[in-house]
Amino acid sequence: MEKEKITAATVRADFNDLVAVVHYTRAAHELGLWASERKLIARFFPEKTAPLIEAGCGAGRVAIALWSQGYTQLTAFDFAKELVDQARSLAAERGADSGDYPIRFLHADATALKKRRSLCTASFSGALFLFNGLMQIPGRENRRTALRELHRLCAPGAPLLFTTHDRESSPTERALWRLEQLRWTRGTQDSALVEFGDRYFDEAGVGRTFMHLPDRAEIIADLAATGWTREFDAMRKEVARESAAVVDFSDECRFWVARKN
Ligand SMILES: C[S@@+](CC[C@H](N)C(=O)[O-])C[C@H]1O[C@@H](n2cnc3c(N)ncnc32)[C@H](O)[C@@H]1O
Repeated sequence: MEKEKITAATVRADFNDLVAVVHYTRAAHELGLWASERKLIARFFPEKTAPLIEAGCGAGRVAIALWSQGYTQLTAFDFAKELVDQARSLAAERGADSGDYPIRFLHADATALKKRRSLCTASFSGALFLFNGLMQIPGRENRRTALRELHRLCAPGAPLLFTTHDRESSPTERALWRLEQLRWTRGTQDSALVEFGDRYFDEAGVGRTFMHLPDRAEIIADLAATGWTREFDAMRKEVARESAAVVDFSDECRFWVARKN
């Protein structure tokens, strides 16, 4: 039987679900930045007074850690209201909601930022979309819209740091995706999926997750089509060795840095 296709509304509802909210809130409270994130942020975002925008901020794991490191002009948003509420509450607990440099948390959709009046005149010196949030937007054209929206909000030369999975990162992955390709050719793939490369799964303690897994060529093409130039990419294990807690929280991924043309 044909299933309904996964949409942004499905993904938003999954992130607003209690299981996911607890999972990402715990990470914001206890995990903070991964070693790889710390390293790449120090390298590509060295100016702590530069205005930065974080997309898909979840419960504030990255934004609040950046604030603790002394970043002074942070705007962070997510389209899951429950997670934004958690981020605001953790920011209040840590004092990151007041004082000279409060973090601005917004409830907004990365594919529809024009609707946010407060962002209309903004010009950011850098953007982040960490822990695969960009790949949780169903539909390639929608992911490109999000890239265009961040491009519009950034100044020329601004870096964009984000992560994705990589379908070709190991022989096992490649073999599994060859099998999935056969299913798509025969039309026997999960009919809820939007495109080849998509996965939709339920994990105990994490909740339902939609994820698009690209190959490198796809991301390079998407960046080029949306006004960004790839500057750096590497698998996380090549960037830093992560703690057991980080590895437990998150799979291996590919880091990307692009610059606004
Ligand atoms: C895997 S979670 C990561 C959350 C947080 N960055 C972290 O690392 O803990 C991905 C986040 O992207 C958000 N997201 C997905 N699509 C989005 C969209 N179109 N606009 C804004 N946020 C989105 C989700 O709500 C979720 O909070």
